[in-house]
Amino acid sequence: LSAQTKITLNTDLGKTQINKHIYGHFAEHLGRCIYDGLYVGENNTKVAHTRGIRNDIVQALKDLKVPNLRWPGGCFADAYQWKDGIGPKENRPSMINVWWGGVTEDNSFGTHEFLDLCEQIGAEPYLAGNVGSGTVQDLIDWVNYVNHPGGSPMSELRKKNGREKPWNVKMWGVGNEAWGCGGNMNAEYYSNIYKQYATFMTSWTNDAKLFRIASGATDDDYAWTETLMKNIPHNMLSGVALHHYSVIDWNKKGPSTQFSEAQYFKIMQEAWKMDELIVRHSTIMDKYDPEKKVALIVDEWGGWYEVEPGTNPGFLYQQNTMRDAMIAGMTLNIFNNHADRVRGANLAQMVNVLQAVILTEGEKMILTPTYHVMKMYNVHQDATLLPIQLETQNYKFEGKSIPAVSASASKNESGINISLTNIDYTKSHEVTISLRGENVSKVSGQILTSGSIQDYNTFEQPEKIKVKEFTGAKLNNGVLKLTIPAHSVIVLNVK
Ligand code: AHR
Repeated sequence: LSAQTKITLNTDLGKTQINKHIYGHFAEHLGRCIYDGLYVGENNTKVAHTRGIRNDIVQALKDLKVPNLRWPGGCFADAYQWKDGIGPKENRPSMINVWWGGVTEDNSFGTHEFLDLCEQIGAEPYLAGNVGSGTVQDLIDWVNYVNHPGGSPMSELRKKNGREKPWNVKMWGVGNEAWGCGGNMNAEYYSNIYKQYATFMTSWTNDAKLFRIASGATDDDYAWTETLMKNIPHNMLSGVALHHYSVIDWNKKGPSTQFSEAQYFKIMQEAWKMDELIVRHSTIMDKYDPEKKVALIVDEWGGWYEVEPGTNPGFLYQQNTMRDAMIAGMTLNIFNNHADRVRGANLAQMVNVLQAVILTEGEKMILTPTYHVMKMYNVHQDATLLPIQLETQNYKFEGKSIPAVSASASKNESGINISLTNIDYTKSHEVTISLRGENVSKVSGQILTSGSIQDYNTFEQPEKIKVKEFTGAKLNNGVLKLTIPAHSVIVLNVK
């Protein structure tokens, strides 16, 4: 049973660059993301590590081409005292992680360890500053500690702690979810607070021109975006954030694996909503910033379900199925197609939390279907977006419908890359892609698919779902024809 999708690509009309930062990640001090995830401690003898950071994870993240990594939260960011996480570990005070499980945070993973992780994986750090419970001075000091070249009290303290050169961190969040866990502020109040903090955050060198990101709206809170865009001078505002999770119901999120079609459909609707959210937040931004100087940064997105049975509810550990691959494929297509305004995003979260790309259990590590999609799509990083026209039949369920196939395309020195995601539960699609504007003669591809949408990788069967070569695309006179199976992701390269 096949449906039809028709795509027209104007290969010579690209003008917007897909900012690689759309492919960013997020690591919070939450559950087993940092401790027992990315960081196993310097004295660990069971898992191979470099200064406590797991080597197998580092390799997987290098392969993924992670452009930036947001840290230390999330909600945790507005409770975090960065000065407690520097200097000799035995002197670092502990705190209680009030947001996530009430566990003791011993601060053994702090600024140096995080920036070491970023250097090991080749990602730009994105530090989320504490605005909710920290002072302006604390944030000034953090900027100076990591960025001041030398001769200031904070740069000297950094050197004393073993780091001579500044890290030149550019991306800074000024608080997180200021409307909620970041301080329960209203938009007017937060705009003023933002200006106060941002005023004192200094770019010390041209290598570290600060990119300051305001804590943004949740979902469809358009009034929040409007107030920020109106009240904050744009010369002190590089980006405005947006958070949107795909959730069935905050009080009844449903399981991460054994879900029904109704639960699947609802999650796909929520993921598809990202398109409308971006369009409508962007429309407001266009009103105040028609030249699109301020970026929209979707710095938290992904699927959110019940935790795995038997795990700590405060740790947000969930499995990752082909459903998550669908969220990722569709969402990244949406981001790419809005690359003129969306210039950064962070999947929540990197390891062992929510829609993770990596799960660990003791010495074992697995790559999730989401990892594979992020990796297949990394060909779009910094490439030129190609305008796309797409007609697809809808995926229908109980009288409701959403587009089944989503797509985006870009061009770089490797040729033209086209990513396709078919979220339909049962129907494959016959896809016809007309390429206008360039002569092409070769096509190659990769596919991620599995027999059931509920399938996932386990520690016993880590490669049940993996990327395979796709040879099913036929190219004739500039027209590509292929069949994309139900719940599958395909990325094609044409040249
Ligand atoms: O990603 C988990 C939490 O979701 C983050 O800490 C918070 O910002 C959001 O509400």
